[in-house]
Order: sequence, then structure tokens, then C-alpha cells
Amino acid sequence: MMATSTAQTFRTFREQYQGTKNWVYMDASARGLLSNGVRDALVQYVDHRANNGGDKDWMFSMAEVARQRFASLIGADVDEVSLTKNVTEGINAFAFSLPWCEGDNVVVCPDIEHPANIFPWYHLARQKGIEVKAISAEDGRVPLEKLAGTIDHRTRVVTVSAVSFAPGFRAPLRELSKLCRAHNALLLVDAAQTVGVLHTDVEDLGVDGLAVATQKGLLGLYGMGFLYVRKAVAEIMKPVYISRMGIQLAEAHEAAVGDPAAFTFAKGARRFDLGNFNFIGAVAVAQSISELAAVGSLNIEQYVTSLAQRLATGIAEVGLPVFGGAEAKDRAHIVSIGSAIGDGHDSTDNAVLSGLSAALLNNNVRHTIRRGFVRLSLHAYNNEDDVDQVVAISRDFVRSSKVVERA
Ligand SMILES: Cc1ncc(COP(=O)(O)O)c(C=O)c1O
Repeated sequence: MMATSTAQTFRTFREQYQGTKNWVYMDASARGLLSNGVRDALVQYVDHRANNGGDKDWMFSMAEVARQRFASLIGADVDEVSLTKNVTEGINAFAFSLPWCEGDNVVVCPDIEHPANIFPWYHLARQKGIEVKAISAEDGRVPLEKLAGTIDHRTRVVTVSAVSFAPGFRAPLRELSKLCRAHNALLLVDAAQTVGVLHTDVEDLGVDGLAVATQKGLLGLYGMGFLYVRKAVAEIMKPVYISRMGIQLAEAHEAAVGDPAAFTFAKGARRFDLGNFNFIGAVAVAQSISELAAVGSLNIEQYVTSLAQRLATGIAEVGLPVFGGAEAKDRAHIVSIGSAIGDGHDSTDNAVLSGLSAALLNNNVRHTIRRGFVRLSLHAYNNEDDVDQVVAISRDFVRSSKVVERA
């Protein structure tokens, strides 16, 4: 039973999300809903640009507010955060800026990684003669023992998703970071699915890099993201691209070049900043993070994961296969329905799962099909009624179709 004040906090939070009135919205893993506060901030920004041309100093100040909020959300220093446009950009910046030697290697588990965290490594292998040590997933998870047996003295980077986009289990980040430290390797995390939903403390987790985009758990826009790089790691990195934002300027103004040949990189991860920022994306996420922070990331994680647990239990009880079992200890905010990981990114050839997906959509349940699963993903604007409705729709579907054994 939730304490009354906690229940009230989440009720108030939900009221700020118009989308919850139109949908049972279980699609945060694709993109989260926007709050009224975010919408108002966006309208204000656009109106100001339309009516007055906009104010560049203010726009830059909002980019810095966003950077500050990203940093405090993950327990980082503000100079450890670069403003990027998405996860892919952050991963590429990290990957290509390290001082690689031919024969170094990276360990990755492509079976459960998003393409954003696969192709950059194979590209790097072609460019720099490094080796990609690809290990296969076990039961939809990063296999810790196999990974430990794969790391060697030439491993520079181990990379994983904090929670995979499908089937959606948590990676054991603390164990992985210990393993990496013991081998003098860096741990780079694709946190697209987690920041904003799960409490994330980069010091506590011991990660060296973290790439995030704002449209999912952070409840902001596409085209905005950030890259965290531990300060000591950033200082040995040479960015592939450089801009006036990524160097230490002779004077405060962005156009003050000084002796251009003598430029030095900006502090820490700021060296990865490239040109003008996605200011409207910064405005959106500055607002959404302040709303998330008012509730608190630990509270959100606890609330959302317990909703996901209720959902997993309910779905299993109606007889549908919850991947990993209803009691999976490493479930976060994603419940994947189906028995096996499929090949298609956003399709399933299983008729029962297609039928279930259609039944959910017909009943206004927003969700996605990923890697052959019906994927339901929750956030702090969901509530127990949402969960119970999805379970009831699934029960009706099972009763009417009577073909569940083939799912
Ligand atoms: C784990 C994961 N990484 C990365 C992405 C997206 O990468 P990008 O922000 O570069 O488009 C997604 C989803 O779109 C994802 O689920």
C-alpha cells in the first residue's frame, strides 16, 4: 500500500500529462509524454522567437540550465556533461575520441544493444584497426561471467545499455564497473532507457561514460541529449570534431578566437559541445527535469518499478508469457510479452502477439512491438488503473482467442 502523500504526489504528477487522458500510455521506451509545463515552456519559447526574434543570451543560459540539471540528476560535475543531439552522437564522441592503439578491443553484446551502440564500434574497428569482441546475450541479458572471460589486457571499453530497449532488463552496472576497473578498461553506458525513470548516480555505479537522449525517460524532445564523461577520462580525449564551444576561448565571447592555432580543449566533456545548441530541446528538458526532480528520482524508480511488477504479475496470471518470468529481479519499468527475442526491430511474426497488440491498440493502449515482443513501458504518469486496464484487456483477449499456447 502506498503512503497517502506518495499517492497524492503521483496523482498530481499525472494530472500534468494530457496524454494520460487520451491513452493508457505505456510507451515511455519509445518516447515519453510531454507535461503541460513543458508544453507551456515550448509555446513561450516559440512565441518569443516569432514575436521578438528571440534572445540569444537567454537561449545560452537555458542550455546551461539544462546542462546543470543533467549533471545534478546523475550526480556529475557540470563540466562532465556535454550537450549532444542524441545517444548515437554521444557514443560516437566517446568512442572516436579515445587514444586507441591497433589491436585494442571493445566488448559489446550486440544481441541486446540498440543499433546506436553497435555500428559505431564496427566503424571504429575499420577506421582504427581495433577488435570488436561481440558476446552473445543469455536469456536476454548481459552475461556477466562470459563478459568477465572475454575482457583482456587489450580491452579499452566495455559498453552496455543500462536497460535494454528489449527485452528490458537491467545490466549489472556496479559489477561491470568493478570488472572494468580491475582490467583498466572503461565502462560506457547507453542510458537511453533509464535516466529519468531509474535513479542514476554515476559515482555510485562507477561508470566512465553515459549517453542519453531526452525524448524517453526525460520526458523532453527528440534531437536533444547529453554525454557524461568522467573528468579524468575526458581529459585524455581528443574530440573528432571541434567547435568554438569546445575550446577554451581567449575571451568570454564565442567569437573571440585569439590565436586559433594555439587553441586548447574546453574542460572535461565540454570539449564535445558542437556549435549552437538545440535551445528548444534545452528549454523542454530543463522544465521536465525540474518536474521530475520535485518528485525525486528514488521515489520515481520505486513507484514505476512496482507498477511494472504489478503489470508483469497480472499479465502472467492471465496466461501470457512475460519474458524472464513475472518475478524477474532485474525488471525495471519495461514488461516484454513473448517467449523469445525476435529478429525484426519493430515486428513480430507471432500471430498471438500481433493479435494482442491490435487488441491493446483498439483499447487505446499505446505500446510498441520491439524485437518480437509486445513491449509495455511505464513512467511516473502511469498509475494502477492503467495497469489493471491492460491486464483486463489482455484477459479478454486471451479468453476470446484461446490460442495463448502459441505465443
Ligand atoms: C537503448 C537505446 N539506445 C539508443 C536509442 C536511440 O538512440 P538515438 O538517441 O541516438 O536515436 C534508443 C531508442 O531509440 C534506445 O532504446
